[in-house]
Amino acid sequence: MQSFSTSRKRGAKDRPPGGGGKNAHDMIHMSGVWKKYGEGQFALQGVDIRVKQGEFVFITGPSGAGKTTLLSLLYGAETSDQGQIFIAGRNITHLHRKDLPHLRRGIGVVFQDFKLLPGRTVFENIAFCQRAIGVSAREARRRVYAVLKMVNLADKRDLFPRVLSGGEQQRAAIARALVNRPPLLIADEPTGNLDPHMARGVMDVFSAVNRMATTVVVATHDRSLIEYVGTRSVHVEFGQVVEG
Ligand SMILES: Nc1ncnc2c1ncn2[C@@H]1O[C@H](COP(=O)(O)OP(=O)(O)OP(=O)(O)O)[C@@H](O)[C@H]1O
Ligand SMILES: [Mg+2]
Repeated sequence: MQSFSTSRKRGAKDRPPGGGGKNAHDMIHMSGVWKKYGEGQFALQGVDIRVKQGEFVFITGPSGAGKTTLLSLLYGAETSDQGQIFIAGRNITHLHRKDLPHLRRGIGVVFQDFKLLPGRTVFENIAFCQRAIGVSAREARRRVYAVLKMVNLADKRDLFPRVLSGGEQQRAAIARALVNRPPLLIADEPTGNLDPHMARGVMDVFSAVNRMATTVVVATHDRSLIEYVGTRSVHVEFGQVVEG
């Protein structure tokens, strides 16, 4: 599995509050995080959250509560106004643009609308995101086949996304998110466009990935999925963690 470790020297400000010690096993640690878009309301208002390495955690809450914002801060799509964010012990709060690719290599992201490239086959969609990381073509192919098998899509590898069902498209997107073997998988409403049967199939894949030590964080409205998986859920309202 790929790690977040970096050759960059770390300073005191890079360490989580309280040092390594009891926090050493946190995959995610957000401390007093605030976020506002433009001149609008605060989308996040002092969020504190810890997710341990190897956990499977749901983020729940009503529309507009701040779930997407919270996840976006974790993979550097947005920046916070205040507070500290650590991923695997590394302070990513004020990450330089040039350090973003390294962060994102360690995080697989899955969206509600799949975001597959329509002009590329399933295989190509998954192989595509390995180009930047310097694996050989042969190793890249091996990894694509391995993740396709894991999401049970090996027989659809040469098809284009438009001929796949929603569930199959989402499983292809999950395979793409996992092909670089990230220690952290983040999914934002990954089952929002799927029927209940397909949604449970997606959760089964996430659970399997989680059993292989990947930390999984899923934002969802769907309480039945949380009950189905049976793991911890963190409830967000008006930009604050109110439970979990
Ligand atoms: N790019 C943006 N520009 C301005 N305001 C935004 C932007 N993105 C989110 N917001 C606002 O921030 C707040 C939190 O939005 P966010 O998308 O994080 O909520 P959410 O919990 O993911 O909602 P949903 O369940 O509908 O996806 C909302 O008030 C929203 O209008
Ligand atoms: Mg959202």
